[in-house]
Amino acid sequence: MENSIEKIKQEALKKLDEASSDIESIKALSVQYVGRKGFVTQFLRNISKLPKEQRPLAGKEANQVKQFLENAFSQAIARIEMEKNSLSDSIDVSLPGRPVRLGTLHPITQITRQICDIFTNLGFEIAEGPEVETDYYNFEALNVPKDHPARDMQDTFYISENIVLRTQTSPIQIRVMEKYPPPVRIIAPGKVYRCDSDLTHTPMFNQVEGLLVDKDVSFGDLKGILTTFVHEIFDEETSLRFRPSFFPFTEPSAEVDILCVMCRGKGCRVCGHTGWLEILGAGMVHPAVFENVKYDIKQYTGFAFGMGIERIAMLKFGVDDIRKYFENDLRFLRQF
Ligand code: PHE
Repeated sequence: MENSIEKIKQEALKKLDEASSDIESIKALSVQYVGRKGFVTQFLRNISKLPKEQRPLAGKEANQVKQFLENAFSQAIARIEMEKNSLSDSIDVSLPGRPVRLGTLHPITQITRQICDIFTNLGFEIAEGPEVETDYYNFEALNVPKDHPARDMQDTFYISENIVLRTQTSPIQIRVMEKYPPPVRIIAPGKVYRCDSDLTHTPMFNQVEGLLVDKDVSFGDLKGILTTFVHEIFDEETSLRFRPSFFPFTEPSAEVDILCVMCRGKGCRVCGHTGWLEILGAGMVHPAVFENVKYDIKQYTGFAFGMGIERIAMLKFGVDDIRKYFENDLRFLRQF
């Protein structure tokens, strides 16, 4: 009895050896020996016919052989498959190389650069300032009174009583004017922060500030520069209108609308059926601001403007949810 299980085992191993690298034959051998009706299984079933005292030992040995053969078959198959794979993994120098996916600039970076290019071509220089600002630069020097709603905790992120995350790029105006005498002509892009979050507002967004100070600067110059800008960033057919408005640091102040880029003035969902879209705030620099930076208000005048970059990008690319720009979903970003 013991001999015969050992014989089955040796026979199986010999056949496994003969099957060499043929997976199908090995699978067939596995069925033949350790399958449900295989030799070893049958042997195990017949143990009940043995005299009682022989059964435990025979059973133990037969089970060991079954286990051994099962392992031998599955290891042989695994080894062959591994060899096959490593063969197909080896380098085929005749194949073309895998293309490396190039990244692209984030759409907001693209628009920021376009805006800055337009203004640098008009003679503006790029300026920067800190995102963590003092109350003085963000509000006080810009003639924003202590009780102005923008100073509320609900609208502004306070780091401490006198330190804020800048809510606008306008403090850069002050920093530049403190440092350089007139004439100045700067364009200043950067991140700004406000406690706000919905379809069209995120707590962080980007603005571009513009400032031009010189002798005899008029509101007409402001209109000319902004018209040139809008025609370049959108197209020549995009007309502008200036609506009287209020900012503490400009007087007079205006909000600038462009003809709706979606419906061209007919009225649609994007422009709230008005035919116009607000894109920026602007005005002539308030004399109080000039006094804060010790510019001679008798000699100099100037204009300033500020716009949200995401807003321009949304209109240019037809994106209706500002948050898409910050979700880092590559399926969205690869489209630009
Ligand atoms: N800082 C203003 C804002 O964030 C925009 C602005 C800039 C208005 C410069 C006038 C002049 O709304």
